[in-house]
Amino acid sequence: MALQPIKYSRRRDLPLKQIMALYRANGWSAADKPRQLKRGLRNSDELVTAWDGRRLVGLGNAITDGSLVVYYPHLLVHPEYQARGIGRRILEQLLLKYAEVHQQILVAEPQAARFYRRLGFKRAGKALALEIFQGHEHLRKTKAKRKAVRPGVPS
Ligand SMILES: CC(C)(COP(=O)(O)OP(=O)(O)OC[C@H]1O[C@@H](n2cnc3c(N)ncnc32)[C@H](O)[C@@H]1OP(=O)(O)O)[C@@H](O)C(=O)NCCC(=O)NCCS
Repeated sequence: MALQPIKYSRRRDLPLKQIMALYRANGWSAADKPRQLKRGLRNSDELVTAWDGRRLVGLGNAITDGSLVVYYPHLLVHPEYQARGIGRRILEQLLLKYAEVHQQILVAEPQAARFYRRLGFKRAGKALALEIFQGHEHLRKTKAKRKAVRPGVPS
């Protein structure tokens, strides 16, 4: 059976159930705050979504000061649809819109860093990404890393 083409949209009225399915499939903690998540996506300066028919399979958003800086908080593709060019298409649409902005910035998960590099992002020199985060994803990784460099220490 032929796959139907993925369609891209800038619509804002995303069904909460579909948002939750996408975020939960990727294990992102934002799914624990459904109302805030839906509102945050709706309030973004730009929101690009990918659809397989009526199914939401990917999204990326942008927030900006409208002048100098744009930040890309979320980019995610449903695991069943990854590695098919969807993430690239979403990000390219965002990059095109903000091409003239002085600083385009994001926080990359280690497994996604190569993906972003291919699309033109570089490490921010010696700058560190710092955050106050109520989610668990980054904390988990930090602890795992600490354990990895101190193998002799009982947990
Ligand atoms: C990272 C993510 C958004 C990429 O989207 P995707 O649709 O799977 O990626 P694409 O198919 O568009 O890949 C685009 C290019 O990046 C490469 N790529 C994709 N994921 C990669 C990875 N993890 N490591 C290295 N290269 C990768 C592809 O080979 C492709 O290269 P090409 O265009 O030269 O062939 C997606 O895999 C995802 O949602 N991952 C889980 C959530 C996540 O980590 N999001 C990023 C948060 S920082």
